[in-house]
Amino acid sequence: MRILFATSECSPYAKVGGLGDVIPSLAVALKQMRHDVRIVLPKYGSVNYVSKCEVVEDPMIVNMGYGLEFAQLLRTEYGNIPVYFIEFDRYFARHGIYGEFGHGYHDNWRRFTFFCRAVIDMCPFLNWAPDIMHTNDWPTGVIPALLSLHTKPNILNATKSIFTIHNMAHHGYASKELLQFTGLYDHYWHPFAMEACGAINVMKGALQFASKITTVSKTYAEEIKTAEYGCGLDDVLRYRAKDLVGICNGVDTDVWNPMVDKFLPENFSAQSLGGKKTCKQHLQRELGLSNDLNIPIFGVVSRFFHQKGLDILCNILPGVLKNMNVQFAILGFGDQYLEWRLKDIMSRLGGKISVRIGFDEKLSHLIEAGSDFFVMPSRYEPCGLNQMYSMIYGSLPIVHATGGLIDTVDNYNELTGTGTGFIFNDLTDSALYNTIGWACATYYDRPGDFAKLRQSAMEKDFSWAKPAKEYEKIYLAAMGES
Ligand code: ADP
Ligand code: GLC
Repeated sequence: MRILFATSECSPYAKVGGLGDVIPSLAVALKQMRHDVRIVLPKYGSVNYVSKCEVVEDPMIVNMGYGLEFAQLLRTEYGNIPVYFIEFDRYFARHGIYGEFGHGYHDNWRRFTFFCRAVIDMCPFLNWAPDIMHTNDWPTGVIPALLSLHTKPNILNATKSIFTIHNMAHHGYASKELLQFTGLYDHYWHPFAMEACGAINVMKGALQFASKITTVSKTYAEEIKTAEYGCGLDDVLRYRAKDLVGICNGVDTDVWNPMVDKFLPENFSAQSLGGKKTCKQHLQRELGLSNDLNIPIFGVVSRFFHQKGLDILCNILPGVLKNMNVQFAILGFGDQYLEWRLKDIMSRLGGKISVRIGFDEKLSHLIEAGSDFFVMPSRYEPCGLNQMYSMIYGSLPIVHATGGLIDTVDNYNELTGTGTGFIFNDLTDSALYNTIGWACATYYDRPGDFAKLRQSAMEKDFSWAKPAKEYEKIYLAAMGES
């Protein structure tokens, strides 16, 4: 099959969260299954090139609803996968991907729908058309509707679209006047098309027009069909239920693997944990935590965003640090109030907690490796990658029972001594406080169980082989449709 991933993030070029990790690793897994896989993303000002980039087309004409625009089409390779960049400085020559300083860019709707139109228009230039256009979240969500246009390039007549929901919360709203921006007609302004509550809703359009819909865990696929998690589109998802499938993300084991991780001061494995101690030592030194290998470290690497529930962690952190002999290593950025709250706690309880504000790939690996536990009190979590990374690195996850966290973590059972982490059901201060206390007591009072849990966690198989097969099945089903 010819598969084109249209995406707003793709590591190592541009990454904000898990989407950036998922796209290249799924692409590699599908390529290994002998599919012709390619990736396209915008060329942001901050794109990190890993290899040389060549110009494929300059200018590349983009047929907007209001007239022609002239972009550039660039190409590089990720391993043996072609990666295309749409270069268009008016929208993309900025440092951020979605925004800067905790605020989204005011013209994100135009930026990303322009990108969608450019993805459609690049195929005739390449003289290559995908069988499957795999779109991801609202920034690529206009593509399924554009593929339904009779005026699309002929080369795309047989192309089917897949839309993957990585996060139900962001819809891509715009006012009615913008409908024609990308060349969509008035009849797309309809409750059975893209209109929702008096606005254009790109996510809704994607859910209506995609041949198949996937999301990134089985539990989240069920959750989003309910009013509680459906973000106002649960009715559309129930309507499309037979075309909606949950496929749990995998882990790129070339990048996230303690045995080969190039960011770690010493590598380690489930059989030989010596290197993990060295990582813990480095982590304490790097973050200015008191140097004591016997104290358990609780790690957090996260976007600071309402979704991630870190406000709940802030509520209880002073009590946890006062009453338990633990340390916290926290890395992230986003919500400025949360940043301020965490820094305030650090200023009062330094030595026991260190908070680094920013995006730091290397430190994120060191925190996974040097911690004993990893905290994710997410309000909702479509899949979550960090809990999987932490298990592979022998840091037991402490997670709220939601979405992909349920599907990937096995709760500790004190009677049998089995499990790979700690799960709490109620997202309340006391539930999180008590679960951290439970983990802490397990570490100090039941070291045998702690060691067993760590072994089981490190032995879990999160490779992409199985999910990639499930995607292949969905692609075939989409192609089978007339
Ligand atoms: P989400 O996509 O919702 O942010 P995931 O758990 O799926 O959550 O993926 C988060 C990814 O982003 C992980 O690879 C994580 O290590 C990375 N990440 C998040 N915040 C930071 C940060 N401040 N610095 C480095 N990496 C980060
Ligand atoms: C989103 C979700 C996260 C998921 C990631 C990759 O950012 O919040 O749960 O793991 O996408 O699919």
